[in-house]
Amino acid sequence: SFLLDLIFSPQYGIVLDAGSSRTTVYVYEWPAEKENDTGVVSQTFKCNVKGPGISSYESNPGALVKPFDDCLNKVKERIPVHLHKNTSVYLGATAGMRLLRLQNETAANEVLASIQSYFRAQPFEFRGAQIITGPEEGVYGWITANYLMGNFLEVFSFLNVTWVHPYGKETMGALDLGGASTQISFISEEPQENFNSTLQVKLYGYSYNVYTHSFQCYGRDEAEKRLLALLLQVRNPCYPQNYSTALTMKYFSGSLCTQSLRPANYYPNQLVNFHGTGDPGLCQEMVSLLFNFTACRDGEDCPFNGIHQPKVKGSFVAFSGFYYTINALNLSGHFSLADFNSSMWFLCSQSWLQFMLPKFEETYARSYCFSASFIYYLLVHGYNFDAETWPQIRFQKEVGNSSIAWSLGYMLSLTNMIPAEGKLIQVPLKPALFTGLLIFLTATALLCLLFLVYLCIVSRNRKNMSRVEHVFIPE
Ligand SMILES: *[C@@H]1O[C@H](CO)[C@@H](O)[C@H](O)[C@H]1NC(C)=O
Ligand SMILES: *[C@@H]1O[C@H](CO)[C@@H](O)[C@H](O)[C@H]1NC(C)=O
Ligand SMILES: *[C@@H]1O[C@H](CO)[C@@H](O)[C@H](O)[C@H]1NC(C)=O
Ligand SMILES: *[C@@H]1O[C@H](CO)[C@@H](O)[C@H](O)[C@H]1NC(C)=O
Ligand SMILES: *[C@@H]1O[C@H](CO)[C@@H](O)[C@H](O)[C@H]1NC(C)=O
Ligand SMILES: *[C@@H]1O[C@H](CO)[C@@H](O)[C@H](O)[C@H]1NC(C)=O
Ligand SMILES: *[C@@H]1O[C@H](CO)[C@@H](O)[C@H](O)[C@H]1NC(C)=O
Ligand SMILES: *[C@@H]1O[C@H](CO)[C@@H](O)[C@H](O)[C@H]1NC(C)=O
Repeated sequence: SFLLDLIFSPQYGIVLDAGSSRTTVYVYEWPAEKENDTGVVSQTFKCNVKGPGISSYESNPGALVKPFDDCLNKVKERIPVHLHKNTSVYLGATAGMRLLRLQNETAANEVLASIQSYFRAQPFEFRGAQIITGPEEGVYGWITANYLMGNFLEVFSFLNVTWVHPYGKETMGALDLGGASTQISFISEEPQENFNSTLQVKLYGYSYNVYTHSFQCYGRDEAEKRLLALLLQVRNPCYPQNYSTALTMKYFSGSLCTQSLRPANYYPNQLVNFHGTGDPGLCQEMVSLLFNFTACRDGEDCPFNGIHQPKVKGSFVAFSGFYYTINALNLSGHFSLADFNSSMWFLCSQSWLQFMLPKFEETYARSYCFSASFIYYLLVHGYNFDAETWPQIRFQKEVGNSSIAWSLGYMLSLTNMIPAEGKLIQVPLKPALFTGLLIFLTATALLCLLFLVYLCIVSRNRKNMSRVEHVFIPE
């Protein structure tokens, strides 16, 4: 029975998404016998590790693992004990650690070493802690989104497990907003030699040219720190009216993203006061200062900071920070640019008293107006979405119970669950073959129906003969 359990019980995988502001643990599950099929891996558990992201432990890496215990204990309860040894754990760190490595490589390595030694003492199969690159983060997010939406392959025949690339099915672009970086990834039909950031992704023998770019320091938190560093002691039009707070200089000027904005008289522990004025127009103007358009005045395929980008095309899904911000605006799914703008103006003009709802935490609530203004500016003036293309963006955080996050694509790729080569019917499906399959399936279905009717009659006859109470439930 132990052996049977091992063969037939589901398999599990664990991914820790070590972001700049926090670490999230994801547990994925899939049936053991269907290792290469798409759409079968789903998220069964998610847990936020208490405290800040791992890069915040630069000066005390030994202390970072203790908060992992809570989540890991819950994970151990979720996965049958005899499968612990058979469950892989991957830790991927993103922009927070990329910045720390640029700032102090020794400190970054010590943080990773502390994680390594923690997981070596755990029952799971630890597959390493890595800092993933911006383009990897972008592409894994794109893979996750399209995998969960069933855009890669679809089940076709029911006698034999075979897969086809859905005819005419388009992939979706992915927009991810983290604390320290933001990623845009989509299929570009423009010649890839024009863009340095086009990656070729091969899944089940099908090639996709994915344009991807990660903007470091354009994550929500780092962008806001840059704004605060620019304002310095001035009234903050992005904070709500009647809101005041005192922040240490280190809070917003200590980051690598704001190093160039550091004042000459920089005292890390000195407090700076910020008073909110809740002025949406002025906030938008301040946010525009975070983008540099002078670096590429020449071409329209250059959104900002001198980065070349093909024109946005097709539908997009915007998740993580994008989703949480539009959620604060009481919006969801698809909506017009004008609706976003009017909700943003309404939110930005509100006074702090109106934000004091129990569901909001101060540090999040005070920044909603900034987040909305930043997203508006990034999408409209940065990536060049307009009134026509904006409604093609769907703001969504999960599909079923699985989060749209780079972590799933990361695990699928590392475990080779979406191999480059695969057994699949020719793409695209020819109409003649399609009709043939349809006739075959209809015939098979009819036969099954006849058989069921036959079973039903037989069972009824038996019941009548033996006079035993017997309820027949057809499948
Ligand atoms: C778990 O078991 C399966 C099937 O025996 C095997 O293919 C896989 O490599 C194992 N995974 C780990 C992490 O040991
Ligand atoms: C880098 O980090 C190490 C380990 O935390 C520390 O000893 C060192 O002083 C740091 N270097 C700088 C330049 O901050
Ligand atoms: C691609 O990168 C090369 C070298 O890094 C650079 O010279 C070239 O201008 C880049 N091309 C584009 C379109 O960004
Ligand atoms: C914008 O980019 C250009 C070209 O890279 C640079 O010379 C300029 O200093 C940048 N401006 C700002 C405000 O960062
Ligand atoms: C969102 O809805 C809540 C509750 O209905 C309301 O108090 C708040 O003002 C709304 N916010 C916006 C930006 O519309
Ligand atoms: C956004 O809404 C405000 C207030 O309704 C309006 O003044 C502004 O012109 C709008 N901006 C755009 C770009 O539509
Ligand atoms: C999502 O989770 C809930 C609660 O665990 C469960 O009832 C529901 O069936 C799940 N939905 C899907 C699509 O898996
Ligand atoms: C699953 O993929 C792996 C790696 O590409 C391959 O070796 C294996 O044969 C595949 N298994 C099935 C059942 O197709």
